[in-house]
Amino acid sequence: MEDHIRFDDARQELHLLDQRLLPTEERIVVCRTVAEVIAALRTMVVRGAPAIGVTAGFGAVLALARLVEQAPGTPWQTAYAQALDLLAHARPTAVNLHWAVERMRRCWQQHSQLSAAELLPRMLDEAHAMQREDVATCRALGQAGQHVLADGQTVMTHCNAGALATAGYGTALGVIRAAVEAGKHIRVIANETRPFLQGARLTAWELQRDHIPVTVACDNACALLMGRGMVDAVVVGADRIAANGDTANKIGTCGVAMLAQAFAIPFYVAAPLSTIDVQTADGSAIPIEERPADEVRQLGGRPVCPEGVPVYNFAFDVTPARYITGIITEKGILQPPFTASIAAALSARA
Ligand code: MRU
Repeated sequence: MEDHIRFDDARQELHLLDQRLLPTEERIVVCRTVAEVIAALRTMVVRGAPAIGVTAGFGAVLALARLVEQAPGTPWQTAYAQALDLLAHARPTAVNLHWAVERMRRCWQQHSQLSAAELLPRMLDEAHAMQREDVATCRALGQAGQHVLADGQTVMTHCNAGALATAGYGTALGVIRAAVEAGKHIRVIANETRPFLQGARLTAWELQRDHIPVTVACDNACALLMGRGMVDAVVVGADRIAANGDTANKIGTCGVAMLAQAFAIPFYVAAPLSTIDVQTADGSAIPIEERPADEVRQLGGRPVCPEGVPVYNFAFDVTPARYITGIITEKGILQPPFTASIAAALSARA
């Protein structure tokens, strides 16, 4: 599935599959302005670190397209720089958002002599390139990672790190898809992932569409399932990986990793190199998004807590590097100690 983020070049519109409504309804949200893209990111019409990055690339295109429509000769550079800043801060944890906006900003800088109208097609090409590259990266990552899974194994995953969370194919689910394409019989346990239910609603939806056997489990069933020997490996995605390998991912991931270590089950993170943020020394410096309380207080629009009760709604947690068996990237599997393997992978890429 690669059409859940689709830019219509002729109409200059971004079409997003509304992930809030899945699995019961497939509805498209159309964005014509960067403000609409920022709102779509904040309200999780589209979510998942690489998908957020690709969406932001097209958001940068829309911001410029609307400035082009202004009266000729109107200064646009300051307004455009401000729009890119706002876009980069739509959500705080996924580093792919900053990475994508900076890539678009670099494209602008490389053509700084052009008018807004002349720049627009270059920015559009860059955003499309980013989208194509993300699918290719996920496929390469899947190939690199599928070797850690053996025929007949059951893999647990947390949240949705699938096609919906990327431009297509997925990171954690990309590893699983590649293993299945290699002829292995893989079963998946999708943790439901309270409160937004990415596992129950999205991971189960896309795996079922691909006929990959999937069972949904409550987040708090993890210890029982592992203790009964029902989990052979865990593969999750990432929103930001610090220079030492500490990994921010959906809230609950750290608990899954600690349980995996207690039960001697390998725990893999699957993410493109663009998710690694070497400016962040370790997990303590990763900003953790806090989301609206009603996401926890309500389920399907109905209250599940007494009215007004305070709640914690941290959207991510950080898994310390010592719980991670390997980081699966498009350039191969990084092994501990991660400070060294991450530095080597990034310098090889440079
Ligand atoms: O809040 P979300 O749904 O954007 O969080 C998504 C996750 O935590 C994913 O696991 C992560 O972005 C990896 S997606 C390939």
